[in-house]
Amino acid sequence: MKILNLGSLNVDRTYSVERFVQPKETIQALKYEEFCGGKGLNQSVALARAGAEVYHAGAIGADGKLLADMLESSGVHTEYLQTIDGASGHAVIQVDRSGQNNIIICGGANRKIEKSYISEVIAHFDAGDMLLLQNEISNIAFAMEEAKKRGLQVAFNPSPIDEGVWECDLNLVDLFVLNEVEGRILAGIRSEEPEEIMTALKEKFPDASFVLTLGDRGAYYFNRETKAFHDIYAVKAVDTTAAGDTFCGYFLAGLAEGMNMEENLARASAASALGVTRKGAAPSIPVRKETEEFMKQRNQ
Ligand code: RIB
Repeated sequence: MKILNLGSLNVDRTYSVERFVQPKETIQALKYEEFCGGKGLNQSVALARAGAEVYHAGAIGADGKLLADMLESSGVHTEYLQTIDGASGHAVIQVDRSGQNNIIICGGANRKIEKSYISEVIAHFDAGDMLLLQNEISNIAFAMEEAKKRGLQVAFNPSPIDEGVWECDLNLVDLFVLNEVEGRILAGIRSEEPEEIMTALKEKFPDASFVLTLGDRGAYYFNRETKAFHDIYAVKAVDTTAAGDTFCGYFLAGLAEGMNMEENLARASAASALGVTRKGAAPSIPVRKETEEFMKQRNQ
C-alpha cells in the first residue's frame, strides 16, 4: 500500500521559555531555534522512519528548501511537492520547562493548495492506496471526495480541529486519528470516559475505524468489530511537539504492514514517547531501529 500524505509543511520558530507568556506580559526567551515541522511533514517523516512507502504532497515557497530536504533525507518521496510564489508556512511555538507547548500556525503556502493540483496528484494513486490528511491545508474536503472517487482509503487526523473539519463529508473517512479533545468534539459529547467517547464515535460513524490517543491514559484502536489498547511508555518530556504526529505516522506504517493492532499501538506509543525526550518536531522523530531498541529496553 502506498500512502499519499497531502499535508502542511512549516518552519517551526521555537522559543524555549520558563513558562508561557501571559496576557499583557513580555518575557525573555531562554533560547530560539528553528526546526522542520508542520503536522503533514511530521507525519510523513514518521511514516518513512517507521518503514512505510510515503509520498508527500503539499506546497512550499522558495524559502522552504530545508523542508523538502528534511522529507528527502528521511526517505519520503517528494516528486509531487510543489514550490509556489510566497512564503512557506510557519509556526510560532513556545516550549516551557516541562516540555509542554503552545502553537500558532501561519498557513503561507499550505493555504494555497488548489483543487486542480489535488486532482493531478491523486490521479497517480489507485484503489488499495491511502490518502492521509490533517487540517492545516486548503481544500481538504475536495481531497477526500477525489480520493474516494479513485477508490483510495481516507485517513483523517482533524488537527487542529476547527470549522474547516465540518466542511468535510466525514462519512468518507475510513480511519480517524484523534486525540481526546478531537474525539470528544467529533463524538459531540462532554464525557471524558473512554468507553463513552468510543461508543458515541461508533454510533456517529459506524463504517469507520478509529485511533484514539488519551495522553497518559494510553491509546485505543477500535471499530464496530474490534478493540485494542496499549498504555503509554512514561518518559521525562523535553518537548512534546509532534508527539501526536509521530504516533499517527508510526501507527499508519504498522497498518500498511499488516501489524497486529496491540503491537502497532505499542510501537506507535514507544516512538511517540522517545520523540518527546528530544527537542523539535521532525528532528525528534525516531527511526524504526531506535524505537525497537527502546521497546526492548522497556520490556525487559
Ligand atoms: O503537531 C506539531 C506541529 O503543529 C508543529 O510542527 C507545527 O508546525 C504545527 O503544525
